[in-house]
Amino acid sequence: MLLRIFATLNLRSNSMRILLLGSGGREHAFSWKLSQSPNCEALFIAPGNAGTKAHGTNLALNPNDFPAVKAAALEHQIDMVICGPEEPLVRGIQDFFAQDQELQHILFVGPSQAGAQLEGSKAFAKAFMEDQDIPTAAYREFTVEHLDDGLKYLEEQQPPIVLKADGLAAGKGVLILDNIIEAQEELRAMLEGKFGDASATVVVEEFLSGIEFSVFVFTDGKDYKVLPVAKDYKRIGEGDTGLNTGGMGSVSHPPFVDAEMMRKVEERIIKPTIEGLQQQNLGYRGVIFIGLISVEDEPFVIEYNCRMGDPETQSVFPRLKTDLVELCRATAAEELANVNIEMDERAVASVILVSGGYPGSYEKGKVITNLDAVEDSIVFHAGTKEGEQGELLTNGGRVLAITSYGDTFQEALAQSLKNAEKVQFDGVYYRKDIGFDL
Ligand code: AMP
Ligand code: GLY
Repeated sequence: MLLRIFATLNLRSNSMRILLLGSGGREHAFSWKLSQSPNCEALFIAPGNAGTKAHGTNLALNPNDFPAVKAAALEHQIDMVICGPEEPLVRGIQDFFAQDQELQHILFVGPSQAGAQLEGSKAFAKAFMEDQDIPTAAYREFTVEHLDDGLKYLEEQQPPIVLKADGLAAGKGVLILDNIIEAQEELRAMLEGKFGDASATVVVEEFLSGIEFSVFVFTDGKDYKVLPVAKDYKRIGEGDTGLNTGGMGSVSHPPFVDAEMMRKVEERIIKPTIEGLQQQNLGYRGVIFIGLISVEDEPFVIEYNCRMGDPETQSVFPRLKTDLVELCRATAAEELANVNIEMDERAVASVILVSGGYPGSYEKGKVITNLDAVEDSIVFHAGTKEGEQGELLTNGGRVLAITSYGDTFQEALAQSLKNAEKVQFDGVYYRKDIGFDL
């Protein structure tokens, strides 16, 4: 009896009113997982999508409008804010909460503006890795004052040449060029404002050839926990051809990432990353998403992000058995040492259904039918909204993720594809070869 009372008290004390910022498939996966926790007293998603409504209350506000986020946090007596996308973090939303007397008591999952530079500035991330001796492609950085040095430097390189806009450029800031003249033209265009301020500094990087994978680390600044590993598929076409997209599918766990590879990632990359954050006093309480490439079985960092990945989250969270509310709370409260990460050993595959024409121009507002026919898969919404008659409408390029479990990722993929076939909207497209290179 006494035990039960204690258990109840304990539950109550951790019971939380949560505000989740963002509107994509990643945020639907967050809300799906958060709402399964006995500690999730209330969940608000700003702005959310038609799928997140099943797990909480959508609030029509823009996460980059900090005063609006503040008003919502106060009105709904929020205990914890979780920031899904990078932009509010890079703009300093964590600092905004930390510095406001009315908001200071609210736990915040996501790094400070200084910490978010790991994603917000490629030049910062490269210098950070150099300082910490973390394996990554060799690089130089240039501003417009040193354009001539940059052009000369490119002449000495072997193509392909990788050019990266320093700042956030909506996923379009990385160019890979097969000849030096083109690279020189692009460097000039970037430094002269092709991506606005984001390309005022450009990082020129050595091209690495290998297979990529995504590692997600929750850290409270001192301790860290590693989530299930995933691989995403960014190109629109099968066989990884055609234009880059926000992501066409994901798999967890990619079999080539074995225990030995993870040991190398932990020793050479995760630990020195956490140490570097500590040394620089970056106040990092949130997710570090490490984009890695395996080059002849050696891991190198391609990029850091300061948030979970999309569409990786749609495959990673279904494999996470640990209570996500507790994982987030402990991250923000600097109590991560006490959390155990438990994983589902099954494989998971997610297939993204996109609008016809994406990633080029596409139409929104198409009616989505037959979602009810999906069996033994999870549907995560991305670009969806509810129409005036309660019908489900497309509202973006990436529309839905269909996620399934299996003994192998091939089995999981087959299940997702079986269900993808049933779902209908005008122009629907998806890749059938997710995981083809594994
Ligand atoms: P990022 O925005 O840094 O993730 O870059 C986008 C994509 O460009 C990555 O996912 C890689 O596929 C590719 N990429 C970036 N840097 C390199 C590099 N140094 N070598 C080869 N490919 C790269
Ligand atoms: N899946 C890559 C990203 O979220 O940036």
